[in-house]
Amino acid sequence: MDRLTILRPDDWHLHLRDGAMLKAVLPETARDFARAIIMPNLVPPVIRGQDAAAYRERILAALPDGMSFEPLMTLYLTEDTDADDVAKAAGSGLIKAVKLYPAGATTNSASGVRDFQKVEPVLERMAEIGLPLCVHGEVTDPEIDIFDREAVFIDRALDPIRRRHPNLKVVMEHITTSEGVAYIGETEKNLAGTITTHHLIINRNHILVGGIKPHYYCLPVAKRESHRLALRKAATSGDRRYFLGTDSAPHTDALKEHACGCAGVFSATNTMSCLAHVFEEENALDRLEAFASRNGPALYGLPTNPETLTLEKQSDPVKFPAKIETGDGPVTVFDPGFDLYWRVI
Ligand code: NCD
Ligand code: ZN
Repeated sequence: MDRLTILRPDDWHLHLRDGAMLKAVLPETARDFARAIIMPNLVPPVIRGQDAAAYRERILAALPDGMSFEPLMTLYLTEDTDADDVAKAAGSGLIKAVKLYPAGATTNSASGVRDFQKVEPVLERMAEIGLPLCVHGEVTDPEIDIFDREAVFIDRALDPIRRRHPNLKVVMEHITTSEGVAYIGETEKNLAGTITTHHLIINRNHILVGGIKPHYYCLPVAKRESHRLALRKAATSGDRRYFLGTDSAPHTDALKEHACGCAGVFSATNTMSCLAHVFEEENALDRLEAFASRNGPALYGLPTNPETLTLEKQSDPVKFPAKIETGDGPVTVFDPGFDLYWRVI
C-alpha cells in the first residue's frame, strides 16, 4: 500500500501556548488536524469559563487565512474551581473537558490539585453532566522514582477517583507504561487513554544513552522498551479506548538546551508521517483511522470529521524542517531518529 485515506484526524492533547508561539505553532497542527483538545496550562492558567472563551478567540485570531481548525477548550482544575462555572462553560459548548494536574507534576502545574478531596464537588458535577476529566497521571511524591510515578498514580489517585465517581468519564492522558495500558484495558466504561507520537517511538535510552538529548525529554518521561512496546500494541490495536493525543508541547531551544531544561516534545509538524510509519511497521495501517480519527470523538461524544486526509508513501525521505521559527525563538521538531516516507498530500 502506498496511499492511505482516513477521516481527518484530531489531536486529543495539544499545547498551543499563546502570543508569538501560538501564531507559529498553530498552523503546524491545523494543516493536518481538524480539532484539538487545547491544554489550559498557560501562565496564568485557563481556569474560568471566561478565560477559555478569551483564549479560544486568541487561537482563532492566530489561524492563518484559508485554514480551518476547531479548538476544543478545557479548563484547568484548581482547588478553588467553581462547579457552577464549569457546568455553565460545558453547557454552552465552550469547553469539552477539565484538566487535572497534580500540583507540581509538570510544566505550569503549580496551581494544580494538592488535596483531591477539595475537587470532589467539581468531579461530582462533571459526572452528572457527562463532562470528561483529562488527567495528567503522575504522583508528585518526592519519594517516588520518576519512572514509577504513573503506575503509582493509578493505585493511589486515579483508581480511588474512579471508584468514587463511576459515572465520571476519565481520559488518562499520554500514558507511558504497560500498567497504564493494562488499567485501561481492563475497564469497560468511562475510561480511555491517549498516547503520544513520541512515546510510540522513543524509550528512555533515546534520552540518555550517548549523551543527554533534551529534545526527547518530556513528562511523563519515556520509560523502558517493554513499555514502549505495550503502547505500540495498544495504539495499533484499533481498541476504542486508545487514541491519539500528541502532547505536542513547544518550548524554545534556549529553554530546552539548558541546565534545567523544560519538559515537552514538539511533534505537530510530522506526527501523521511518524504515525503512518509506526502503524505500517506494526502491519496496522488499516487501524490508523481508529486511533487518530474515530476513537477520540467516540469518547467525547462528538461526530467524526466529515473531511478526509490522505497520506502517500514516496520513495525518497520526506523533508521536514529541523526547527520552526517562532517570534520567541526556534523550536526543534521531533526527530524520530529514522527517515520518514509517508507524506500528507
Ligand atoms: C507539557 C508542557 O510543556 O506544557 N510538557 C510535557 O512534557 N508534556 C506539560 C504536560 O503535558 O505535561
Ligand atoms: Zn501535555
